[in-house]
Amino acid sequence: MKSDKLTFDELRQKISRLDKIPSVASILRTLLKELDRPPDQVKLDKVVELISSEESMVAKCLHLANSPLFGQAGRVSGIRAAVLLLGVVRLRDVLVSSCLMNAMPKFANGMPATVFWEHSLACALSSRHLAKQIGFPDADKAYLAGLLHDIGQIVNVIYFPEELQRSLAFSGERGVPIEVAEREIMGFTHCETGWVLAQEWSLPPDVQDVILHHHQPERELDHADLTAIVNLADKLCFIGGITYAPVYAMQLDILDEPAWSILLERYPQMQTFDLARLGFELESHFGEVREVVASLFRV
Ligand SMILES: [Fe+2]
Ligand SMILES: [Fe+2]
Repeated sequence: MKSDKLTFDELRQKISRLDKIPSVASILRTLLKELDRPPDQVKLDKVVELISSEESMVAKCLHLANSPLFGQAGRVSGIRAAVLLLGVVRLRDVLVSSCLMNAMPKFANGMPATVFWEHSLACALSSRHLAKQIGFPDADKAYLAGLLHDIGQIVNVIYFPEELQRSLAFSGERGVPIEVAEREIMGFTHCETGWVLAQEWSLPPDVQDVILHHHQPERELDHADLTAIVNLADKLCFIGGITYAPVYAMQLDILDEPAWSILLERYPQMQTFDLARLGFELESHFGEVREVVASLFRV
């Protein structure tokens, strides 16, 4: 297959059926809709019922509720108790991650699922942290967008495994970002395949836009700040070494990034931002991320 000759429409056609990706869509859609309500309006019975319908989710929820993170080691045995303990926001994080982890093959060539999820979770936490720091009004949306920004790699791992491996090698050898290597090798990037998947999964429109433009935040006009937040969080993860892309010598100055200028224009208080401190705070999240991913993958 000469995938480098695919046009965007052909790409869309080729993967639009997405029949090779495990069907997490319907349960994910329903869960997101339910958990997107204000916490006091979430119907716990409905959430408990949805979780109970998926064996792997039951296991992950119980495992996490009993993990040291919540200080209840071994004492939570029922799904209802786990739901109450985790709380709505944390529950959404766990469930969305768990649905998505089921969609990614565990032993994909060149892209181990644990490394991919460490990056996604770290970007989610960093996006939320940054959003809170600058006063972006929906820090939880930033978390969700950060978590999902690279879902195009799920499509690429399943549909274009050889091309993805060549792109990763190209990126490492030439010292160029992964999306530049993908464009060169495949003629499209994980931003575009992710966008197709995001539409198929009916993700919120702002999250769809972030997925499509997270490497070119200057192109996104409707949700510029959310896209810029995820772009910077992604870069901070890269600098912190929590990435699936080959790490190469790159002079990356956050203050020169287009995303930084976009945010600075809207949040002038960033002028006095302590970037070194932010990096230090994020580092402490990365340790937790590795623990959580390792623990979820054991289930
Ligand atoms: Fe990306
Ligand atoms: Fe990323």
